[in-house]
Amino acid sequence: MNNFIYDIPVKVYFGENQLCNLGKELSKYGKKVLLTYGGGSIKKIGLYDEILKELEKYGLELFELSGIEPNPRIQSVREGAKICKEQNIDVLLAVGGGSTIDATKFMAAGACTDVDPWDFFTKNAPIEKALPIVTILTLAAAGSEMDAGGVISNLETKDKIGRLAPVLLPKVSFLDPTVTYTVNPYQTACGAVDMMSHIMEVYFNMSNSLYMLDCFMEGMMKTIIKYAPIAMKEPNNYEARANLMWTSSWAINGFISLDKNQAWTCHPIEHELSAIYDITHGLGLALVTPRWLEYCLDETTVSKYYQFGTNVFDIDKNLEPMEVAKQSIKMLSEFFFNTLNLDDTFTKVGIKQEDFDIMAEKACGNNCINGFKKLNKQDIVNIFNMCL
Ligand code: NZQ
Ligand code: ZN
Repeated sequence: MNNFIYDIPVKVYFGENQLCNLGKELSKYGKKVLLTYGGGSIKKIGLYDEILKELEKYGLELFELSGIEPNPRIQSVREGAKICKEQNIDVLLAVGGGSTIDATKFMAAGACTDVDPWDFFTKNAPIEKALPIVTILTLAAAGSEMDAGGVISNLETKDKIGRLAPVLLPKVSFLDPTVTYTVNPYQTACGAVDMMSHIMEVYFNMSNSLYMLDCFMEGMMKTIIKYAPIAMKEPNNYEARANLMWTSSWAINGFISLDKNQAWTCHPIEHELSAIYDITHGLGLALVTPRWLEYCLDETTVSKYYQFGTNVFDIDKNLEPMEVAKQSIKMLSEFFFNTLNLDDTFTKVGIKQEDFDIMAEKACGNNCINGFKKLNKQDIVNIFNMCL
């Protein structure tokens, strides 16, 4: 177990009717607010009008940037950074899911430098300063509301690249489960898979870690398995939406990975799928994750699967470890593809074999992914073949 520093300084307002605190929080950072959002769901659900009223009460000056796409594009980031500079924006208010929040983080950083924001991703340009960011989360999935990272796509170069920097942490996040009532079953399912994957990327690790953290992760996975199907069937079920929302934040805010330094595997692989095919992140993860688990299972790793199978899926502890491992992969696949009703093959979503080489090469950065099991380009191609 490694030493670690615990420092997650995001103030969270959780629950209904918390937006009455929005104006007060924003005005701590100044008067000029850039409101960023996606394709318009915030208007349909009435959130936009509510926000405007709150800003008015505090005499805040509003600027807007809408149309941020799922798998957010670098063009939106550039546009936002430009508005911040031209209008001397004091604080950014991101309202939406992971895409809007991610894009807003890099607008906030782009506003404080002269480099092109794409250099953050391709040239590792320093991110030492960013304007303050406040978020209102509308979809439980990516966890961007409480983490320091974000992922941006460039359709011209067919790249989707993530970057982390402490200054990108939101100052305040508003998490009201009722605003997620309108998230459709498909996006609810994809969000559930994304959270599961954030946990599994950390949980599947053969090094010693805190027992307490493993129990915490198992609890979160059970929470997702229990509540995602309820939220899909009963979209206005507060308990289900609230459990999913709080899990989305804790799955990736750094708490579970504090003592670990293992690389993630399914995420870099999935980012290459969405870079070329623009598919939903959670769908890509659902396709890859069970096959990755199958590929990594052997005598050296089976104990982790046994722990997962018996503690998360309640598989009989008396069975042989290898049998438990196989059943756990089967149950996870059933959860993704039957319960959550997601497509189960690359063929169904149009991902073609001709792109396997390039996607695998980019996923491992021309080297290896040093994750749960070390995987090279050929290993990743093998996993892709299992997804066909
Ligand atoms: O654009 P609008 O109109 O808002 O519609 C969105 C969008 O079409 C819709 N939606 C959001 N809230 C809604 C709603 N529809 C109805 N009612 C609501 N309340 O949902 C669609 C998807 O939104 P998006 O923001 O793309 O989804 P998600 O939160 O899953 O974010 C995905 C992005 O996050 C990145 C992914 O790669 C992907 O680009 N990730 C970010 C991470 C991070 N910051 O740490 C980690 C993750 O692993 C992930 O990679
Ligand atoms: Zn993710």
